[in-house]
Amino acid sequence: MEVFEIRLESIDSTNTYAKQHFAEFPKDKLTCILAEEQTGGRGRFDRPWHSPRGQNLYVTFAFKLSSTRHLGCLAQIMSLSFAQVLLKEGLKPNVKWPNDILLHDKKVSGVLCETEIEQQDVSLFLGIGINVNMDAEQFGAIDQPATSLLAETGHDWDRDALLKQLTEQFLSDLELFKKSGFEPFYELFDKLMALKGKKVRCFDGQKEWSGVCDSITQDGQLNLRLPDGTMHTIAAGEVKSGSL
Ligand code: BTN
Repeated sequence: MEVFEIRLESIDSTNTYAKQHFAEFPKDKLTCILAEEQTGGRGRFDRPWHSPRGQNLYVTFAFKLSSTRHLGCLAQIMSLSFAQVLLKEGLKPNVKWPNDILLHDKKVSGVLCETEIEQQDVSLFLGIGINVNMDAEQFGAIDQPATSLLAETGHDWDRDALLKQLTEQFLSDLELFKKSGFEPFYELFDKLMALKGKKVRCFDGQKEWSGVCDSITQDGQLNLRLPDGTMHTIAAGEVKSGSL
């Protein structure tokens, strides 16, 4: 698939822009919208995404899919694409289920997946925020342990080169995903999974569960070992370390 790129100086959120303008994008291409800064960057669970100017990557990939099959895994595919780029760069990323990328237990990237579904026709808005050249002073503005590629490696990163690597990796992962679903990605996710075997709390949108982070299912859901020994599977939510 070819890529159609839109570069913005300043926008509230690249995901919001992508949703508002989707009808104008070429139907057969992967549209990639990136912004130098976001004034209303959005994270999961309606949290803000800290988006200062000129330092990081704020990108939304917008495209159509003809099936809702495995849709819940697409954000995980995006985060694994980024993890593979970091692995190629010699770094050691972990994935905190479902789709945060961590370096040394601190978040360097997050993914926000939004969809619009009409019958079998799915419009996808996969937004990824990557802390690239943000310095440590900015981390105080973030409500969880955060890091950047600069803070981890001690040098500035070329954001365009990084985006090129990510786009190429994602295009190839997307093709594989369309053909074979989550299965080819399972092993890598399992290998990189953060908090495996650790006591965690997981909010599934309604209830907070406490247990040991065990594994993921073949379609990317979280298996939590409850204190009574049974396994509980969670389709969507957020994991935090520690028990209730
Ligand atoms: C999260 O971890 O909570 C998800 C963060 C996603 C942030 C990205 S930045 C580009 C795109 N535009 C947004 O407003 N959000 C996503």
